[in-house]
Amino acid sequence: MHKVIFDTDPGIDDAMALLFLHHHPDIDLIGITTVFGNASVETTTRNALFLKREWDIAAPVARGDGKAFNPMRNPVDWPVMIHGQDGLGNIDVPETIDLPVDPMPAHRFIIDTVRKNPGEVTLIAVGRMSNLAFALKEDPEIATLVKQVIIMGGAFDVPGNITPAAEANIHGDPEAADVVMTAPWKVTVVGLDVTMKTVMTRTLLNEIVAKGGVRAQLLSDISQLYIDFYGRHVKDGMVVHDSCACVYLVAPEFFTTRSGPIRVVSGGIAEGQTIQKPDGRAFPPGNWDDFPSQHACTGIDADAVLDLIARTLARAA
Ligand code: BDR
Ligand code: CA
Repeated sequence: MHKVIFDTDPGIDDAMALLFLHHHPDIDLIGITTVFGNASVETTTRNALFLKREWDIAAPVARGDGKAFNPMRNPVDWPVMIHGQDGLGNIDVPETIDLPVDPMPAHRFIIDTVRKNPGEVTLIAVGRMSNLAFALKEDPEIATLVKQVIIMGGAFDVPGNITPAAEANIHGDPEAADVVMTAPWKVTVVGLDVTMKTVMTRTLLNEIVAKGGVRAQLLSDISQLYIDFYGRHVKDGMVVHDSCACVYLVAPEFFTTRSGPIRVVSGGIAEGQTIQKPDGRAFPPGNWDDFPSQHACTGIDADAVLDLIARTLARAA
């Protein structure tokens, strides 16, 4: 059984990933930590609590503090065109949810849970990397106590989605992402190189709803705005970015990876760019030296990934 803390900014594709984690039989979801990104942290936390209630998820929700790792950054712009004013596709999520948030802030919840489960916790981070970086800053030793880290973010051999150089999760807090990539823990980065190939068609989503009952119906309702937005990039369907990171945990054989240290650019026109120095390539001494070799996904069996997501979400009934 994989013990997972899901660090997330729900967010529509985040919601699908959450339902996947909740229903996959080999995953034990032990915590949800929220971060800003697709909306403010107030909204993403409210959304996490809403989904927890609607989908009967036991895991506690711990709130991020809404700040970027670099105090000079002030996150204020939210992609309302993609995820809606409410972060969940403008379905009118109720303003207040009568569920308590965990008393610990997100980064402290991560530290505490990892220390209580040494060597057992996988962190799946699908928003800005802020909470993970704050956790490492406060307690660097957790890097040796976490089982692995799986990130949705970055773009290595393809263009970004927020600038030609950068993917949104990394661009939104690049200093945090660099801390996470360079820490001495095992990181796998599931970026746009593979997620943009993983498009769930409306037809497949409808088939999931037919089997998955009211939970899947809510997911479908949430997803319509996102599908309409992504119509300008892909043919009639939704790119399931965040679910790809969750699938990697249980089916890494669906992915091919390249190993080597990864750094993130801060400042300048390439801000937020993820750059890997592939293992085995020699360069003069430079900024990638002496950092751990991490894994960047370069290939994906998209059909197999979509099939696993569909079968898992259909269990939601
Ligand atoms: C990432 O940004 C967010 O919009 C999505 O939830 C995903 O995590 C894709 O760039
Ligand atoms: Ca996300």
